[in-house]
Amino acid sequence: MKLKILVVAGDGIGPEVTNEAVAVLQDVAALGGHEFTFTERRIGGVAIVQDGTPLPADTLNEALASDAVLLGAVGGNEFNSLPPDKRPEAGLLQLRAALGGFANLRPAFAFKELAVNSPLRPEIVDGADIMFVRELLGGLYFGQPRAWDRDKGESWNTMRYTRDEVARVARIAFKLAQGRRKKLTSVDKANVLEVSQLWRATVNEVAAEFPDVTLEHQYVDAMAMHLMNQPRNYDVVLTENLFGDILSDESAVITGSLGMLPSATIGGKVDLYEPVHGSAPDIAGKGLANPLGAILTGAMILRLTAGLEAEAMAVRTAVRTVLENGGRTADLMRGTNPQGYNLLSTTAMGAQVRDTLKQI
Ligand code: NAD
Ligand code: IPM
Ligand code: MN
Repeated sequence: MKLKILVVAGDGIGPEVTNEAVAVLQDVAALGGHEFTFTERRIGGVAIVQDGTPLPADTLNEALASDAVLLGAVGGNEFNSLPPDKRPEAGLLQLRAALGGFANLRPAFAFKELAVNSPLRPEIVDGADIMFVRELLGGLYFGQPRAWDRDKGESWNTMRYTRDEVARVARIAFKLAQGRRKKLTSVDKANVLEVSQLWRATVNEVAAEFPDVTLEHQYVDAMAMHLMNQPRNYDVVLTENLFGDILSDESAVITGSLGMLPSATIGGKVDLYEPVHGSAPDIAGKGLANPLGAILTGAMILRLTAGLEAEAMAVRTAVRTVLENGGRTADLMRGTNPQGYNLLSTTAMGAQVRDTLKQI
């Protein structure tokens, strides 16, 4: 199997975690006789500094000529005073729009070994396995008009969706639910927002195509609470762009750390893969970053773009085995009794996953 992957590692811990994910994928390729080629390009803050723009044309062209794009993270405190369209994050949003993927899959799986790491009681989180489907190309992120009128002291963004935009992402969520526990929870704010009323009506229409899936609707404020109270109650959770951004970070509480969460964006010209977390300037350059979210993101490339299900499962098993054997990055030590755990740096964690993978 041949696969061309563009790596845009970005800023902060982006390069640290991406290096480990790429090394794992290289081992998968070597072990299975696959030909994966990796090309590197700049995005985000590093691109602003070196190229004067957060998404250089050359990066975008390479991305469009690849089978998959693996992104680390973008953003840094030094860029915080820039306007939205000049910031590192704008490069990522432009890349998402150009690649066209509208369904951002964010699985939140609570590894049993990390249940003690969650501030929630182990019996609440144990067994939680949620697939968030976050609409990625609409809503407040891309809706027009948007502006900041500095003279008037007034600014605005627009939460806008068309029926087709909702229907296409809803279909992906229903299909995922059919292959899982056949339950879909659609999250909105239909008690207040017209855009959410369209969202809910459209999801109800699409539901007729999937009679075997049980559909429920939740308001986003209540959902934020239900997720913490009974995370095991949820299977597939469908949300608009901003609600999904917020709820997926919240689900880090269920999994033990933000550093555990992978994501994949499908439905466009080229699939885009990124861990859920950001550039984490507070721990960048210290070898403290947890690379497992990025490594599990690599497993999603194997499953979704490459169709290598067995290899994807092997990576996941390797991650679980390292956790079973007590391997922990610093973020996974919080709230636990450190005895019996091995504190690992970013690179040591990556190496343990690779060593374990070779024995599977
Ligand atoms: P963040 O996700 O970078 O960090 C939040 C907290 O989680 C921090 O305490 C951080 O140390 C910790 N954390 C995150 N990833 C971790 C990992 N792999 N291992 C251990 N700990 C980890 O969010 P933030 O601090 O709000 O944002 C920092 C920058 O990242 C901002 O510029 C933001 O815009 C950007 N960001 C980028 C992306 C992306 O590129 N996909 C995603 C989110 C945030
Ligand atoms: C994410 C991030 C991005 C988002 C930012 C950096 C543009 O928070 O991927 O979750 O809001 O989508
Ligand atoms: Mn986010």
